[in-house]
Amino acid sequence: MSITKAVPLPEGELAKKEERIPEPCIVVIFGASGDLTKRKLLPALYHLEQSGLLPKDFTVVGVARRDLSTTFAPDMQDGIIKGGGVEENDPKLKPFMDRVQYFATEFDDDNGYEKLKAYLADLDTKFNTKGNRLFYLAVAPEFFADIIQRLGNHGMAKPEEGAAHWIRVIIEKPFGTDLASARKLNDEVNAVLSEDQIFRIDHYLGKETVQNILVFRFGNGIFEPVWNRNYIDHVEITAAESIGIEGRGPFYEKAGAVRDVLQNHVMEVLSFVAMEPPDSFQAEAVRTEKLKVWQAIEGIPIENAVRGQYGPGTVDGKPAIGYRREERVSAESNTETFAAVRLEIENWRWAGVPFYLRAGKRLEQRVTEVTIVFKQPPLHLFKSNRSDDKIEPNVITMRIQPDEGISLRFGAKVPGPTTNVRQVDMHFSYAAAFGKSSANGYERLLLDAMLGDATLFAHRDGVEATWALFTPILEAWAAKVATGFPNYAAGSKGPDCADELLAKDGRAWRKL
Ligand SMILES: NC(=O)c1ccc[n+]([C@@H]2O[C@H](COP(=O)([O-])OP(=O)(O)OC[C@H]3O[C@@H](n4cnc5c(N)ncnc54)[C@H](OP(=O)(O)O)[C@@H]3O)[C@@H](O)[C@H]2O)c1
Repeated sequence: MSITKAVPLPEGELAKKEERIPEPCIVVIFGASGDLTKRKLLPALYHLEQSGLLPKDFTVVGVARRDLSTTFAPDMQDGIIKGGGVEENDPKLKPFMDRVQYFATEFDDDNGYEKLKAYLADLDTKFNTKGNRLFYLAVAPEFFADIIQRLGNHGMAKPEEGAAHWIRVIIEKPFGTDLASARKLNDEVNAVLSEDQIFRIDHYLGKETVQNILVFRFGNGIFEPVWNRNYIDHVEITAAESIGIEGRGPFYEKAGAVRDVLQNHVMEVLSFVAMEPPDSFQAEAVRTEKLKVWQAIEGIPIENAVRGQYGPGTVDGKPAIGYRREERVSAESNTETFAAVRLEIENWRWAGVPFYLRAGKRLEQRVTEVTIVFKQPPLHLFKSNRSDDKIEPNVITMRIQPDEGISLRFGAKVPGPTTNVRQVDMHFSYAAAFGKSSANGYERLLLDAMLGDATLFAHRDGVEATWALFTPILEAWAAKVATGFPNYAAGSKGPDCADELLAKDGRAWRKL
């Protein structure tokens, strides 16, 4: 059953876009020869240009250490065409590429910062960018504090006294590796920049489907009245990947599923699912309500956290090696490639409702979704048509990726002379309703940062609150080598201990 149909974008929506064009500016990407810039950032900027959302006076400067002055722009163009699905002869491509520059320096070369400062000032004259800067730190996390410190030392981190221009900095994830390191990094960054200059990015928040959780809840009248402990039995959030670590052994060995996905992406999604309605859709109001959710979690007892690591198996019909056989991974690695937790949010809305979160690699399917499982009706008047006679609950599933959309599962009478009930799905699909799949999250977030809108970026307090929840688990796991790793086969639904976590409560995960 489907309730979607293609609807063209109404005229009014196009007009509204114009209000969102940022002021002239230079986007300066540190680490621009890296994978993120070519695959995501330049395609995202180009899509903004195609949609008419970039200012007319605009330029991009890539910064990295190698001398790429002649190859950088063609390489980025290649990324825009291949990664961004853009036609080679797209009429806006050449004029856009003419505004893509490259500047080579080592991140710790003070002389390089002085030269970069002068270079950016020249670009201001050439492109009329008025001194506005968006620095994007697409670099390994060990460089975050040092680059910001040096921008400060060279007078590039604050607008000149009395001047009207702005300077903002986007910081990539991971923001710290535990509570202590996140606090230290926050202190170092806040010593140079004010909080309203800092944009800690989590690209999940740029996803249409994540933002739509708030629209679904607060832009409609019918869901919010049942969005609480009186009607909801439990909530599941799943971030499952079928891919492995894709050659990023050294990175993943230090990260693992909690640091890579659970502490940041999944906790952001959780806050959108569970927060109270904010006073407005402004940064401060939204961040305050998100923070209250995380602070209402009293802690995650270690017995409510389980971990897994994939062994060899079959993914998409092809054999897959186990994690410990991946390139540059220890043969005795203790790193979790799967993690699941059970937690409770102790406030009036959610007291007693368990939230089950899981994230993992090399699972049988790639799917990120939120599942809201409702309580059963007080009395069963009708029979199930299942062999075990079980009446299934109503379920709302918000699919974040892929096949973005929302489903509502409810019981319907099976046609025939009996009154048996079977569950059916009513489905909304983004692709069917709006005619295109949702944009890469970086588009929205780059645009928001250029506009100075931090609503969809992490605040210092939020980062520390989520690390405070996961740090004790990470410490306990680091102190005790996991027994039984690997404990799930590549291409499976994950380890048995994750099923047991729900079975203790008489529940089961939604099938992947
Ligand atoms: N890739 C993704 O999809 C993704 C997704 C989410 C988050 N992130 C985060 O984004 C950041 C960047 O990721 P990435 O994959 O693009 O990294 P990457 O491919 O490893 O690129 C690193 C960049 O840093 C430059 N660099 C390293 N050391 C330098 C130094 N001493 N001086 C000057 N330049 C130096 C490199 O320049 P040279 O080439 O000149 O050496 C290169 O441009 C990381 O924090 C990562 O965690 C990435």
